[in-house]
Order: sequence, then structure tokens, then C-alpha cells
Amino acid sequence: MLSAKNVFSAIQPTGFLHIGNYIGAIRQWLKYQDVYRCYFCVVDLHSLSIPENIEPKYFKQYILQVIALYLACGIDPKKSFIFVQSLIQEHCELFWILNCITPMGWLKRMTQYKKKSKSGKITSAGLFNYPILMASDILLYNTDIVPVGSDQKQHIEIACNIASRFNCFFGQTFNLPKASIQSEGTFIMGLDNPSQKMSKNIGKKKSGHMIMLLDSEKVLKKTIMSAITDSFNEISFDKSSPGVLNLLNIYRLLSCRDKKSIEEEFSGKRYGYLKKVILGVVLDFLRPIQKRYYKLIKNEDFLIKVSNDAASKIRPIARKTLIKVKKALGIYI
Ligand code: AQP
Repeated sequence: MLSAKNVFSAIQPTGFLHIGNYIGAIRQWLKYQDVYRCYFCVVDLHSLSIPENIEPKYFKQYILQVIALYLACGIDPKKSFIFVQSLIQEHCELFWILNCITPMGWLKRMTQYKKKSKSGKITSAGLFNYPILMASDILLYNTDIVPVGSDQKQHIEIACNIASRFNCFFGQTFNLPKASIQSEGTFIMGLDNPSQKMSKNIGKKKSGHMIMLLDSEKVLKKTIMSAITDSFNEISFDKSSPGVLNLLNIYRLLSCRDKKSIEEEFSGKRYGYLKKVILGVVLDFLRPIQKRYYKLIKNEDFLIKVSNDAASKIRPIARKTLIKVKKALGIYI
């Protein structure tokens, strides 16, 4: 029997998923789906927040790919709700209400907004308000736990602050969610630049940046063998430079080995050897996922049905929360 706790997490359909999405998010979801009620969303509305990334020609393909990859990685639609965000209109309705109680100063402090508004060509109001839509996604399902990568920590904190503010102004309405972020080393950096996070958007424009879950052996070999290292030949979790440490972390997390035994394995070895071993582990890890994925992606109707079925089951839950919110505000007649 499942415990009463609710788990919510999501990925944007902005391109092909990478190993960082798996290590930071999906790996945790697998653990939660056996014990809690889990909502795993494909947040298509979030992916509109950067106007130059809006790709009408590819969106459907990206959305179906994300659903297929959730399944191929082991997320089970019999245990978890796998659904597309825009199927549930309550996300947007709650978003507007929460917009009206969130101080702009809170949003201005968001580091992701600061970074993205500097690099983007057009800064949309959607990008500025993105954390409020994320808060709505989370709060709509009385979420207790949000398993994410560490880049999302600030967004979960603001969701919690928005919920507290609403509760304080209008009476106890929302659960306060908590982020679930794994221990150090689980945030994966770009292989071409270890000071930049591995990201779908960057990876779309630059080869050698990310390890995609669907990369062929040839591409994986090229990406891993050309990963940035240094000239010190130091293979240690404490002393290695950021590029080597990033490779060691990927190896540790996929092989489930401890740091000491990994350091012993590579003692006196060169980076070329380290990269070859990592390539082997990545290939072993990705092959079964890719095999399942290529079977699933052929059956578009099935993927759409998984999301539609989940949406019909959870719509009443979202509706109930929204009615509670409207009653608290006095706008439910
Ligand atoms: N590099 C990463 N390491 C660990 N976890 C990560 N996540 C993302 N990147 C890493 C986690 O994956 C979940 C989904 O995040 P996302 O859809 O925002 O992924 P992205 O690759 O960052 O995608 P984009 O479209 O390229 O987004 P931006 O523009 O934000 O960089 C989250 O739990 C995230 O923490």
C-alpha cells in the first residue's frame, strides 16, 4: 500500500534528454514511484518561456520523446501519473492567482532568471514568471516532495514561500513542499565546458557538450573522448580539475561504485584510459534504455494514451485544489 505522500517532478520538452536529467531527476523518481503517489509531468508550457526556443515543427516529437524516455528509463505508468502539463488547465488558472500574490522582488532574485535574461535575445514575461508556474504545478497536487537537480533548489524555495504567503493571507490551503536533492557530485556539467551546466538547450547548438540518452556509440565515443581535462593527469575526487571530476562523477553514479575503489582503479592511469572505461559504462547503461525507447517511440498512440489516461485521473485532484483556493479567496460562487 502506497504511503499518502505526493511527489511531483517534471522535465521540459526542449530537446533530447541527457545524462544530467537522468542523474539529477529520473534516477530519484525510480526510487519514489514504489513508495509514494508520483506525478511526473512533461512541462510543455514552461518550454515556451524562451521565445527563440519555440519550435512548433518539433514540439510534438519532443513531447512524445520525453514520455517514451520516462517509460524506457523505468517509470511505470501503472505506478505513476505520466502526463503533459497543458492537458490540465488548472495549472494556468492557479498560476494567475499565485501571480497576484507574489512580490516581483522575489522573482528578481532568481538566479536562473538573471542568467537567462542576460544571454537570451528577448526576455519574455513568461521567463520572469516561470517560478510561479512551477509553484502552481507543485501546489496543485498537494506535493510533499520535489525530486530535482540542485539548479532547481531556489525555485522550490520560492514555491514554498508563495504557499506560505497564501496560507498566511487566506487561511491554511497549501501543503509546503520540500526539494529532494541528492548528495554532492550529482549535478552534471558540460563535457566541453565544466563551468557550465549540461543543458538540452546548449547541447542542441554545440556538439561535444552533452551525453544524450539516445546518442549512438559513435557520437558517445566522440563526445567522451574529447571531453575537457587538463595536463596534470591527476585522477582523484579531491584533487582533480573540474572537467576530470565531472567525468569521475558520471562514472561513480552510473557504476554505483565508491570513490576509494574508483581512485584505486585509476591510480597511475592516464586520462585516455579513464575516458575509455567511462565510455564502456555509459554504453552499458544506455543500451537497454535505447532498446526500450526505440520500441516505444514507434507506438505514438500508446504514448498519447499514457498521458491522456493519467490526465483524466488527476484532473479531479487539480480541480479540487483550485476550488479550495477559490473558496479561500471568496471567488467561488
Ligand atoms: N546538468 C544537470 N545535472 C543534474 N540535473 C539536471 N537537471 C537538468 N540539468 C541537469 C535536472 O533535470 C530536471 C529537468 O530539467 P530541465 O528540463 O530544465 O533540463 P535542462 O537540460 O536544463 O533543459 P533546458 O531546456 O536546457 O533548460 P535550461 O534552459 O533551464 O537549461 C530538473 O530536475 C533539473 O534539475
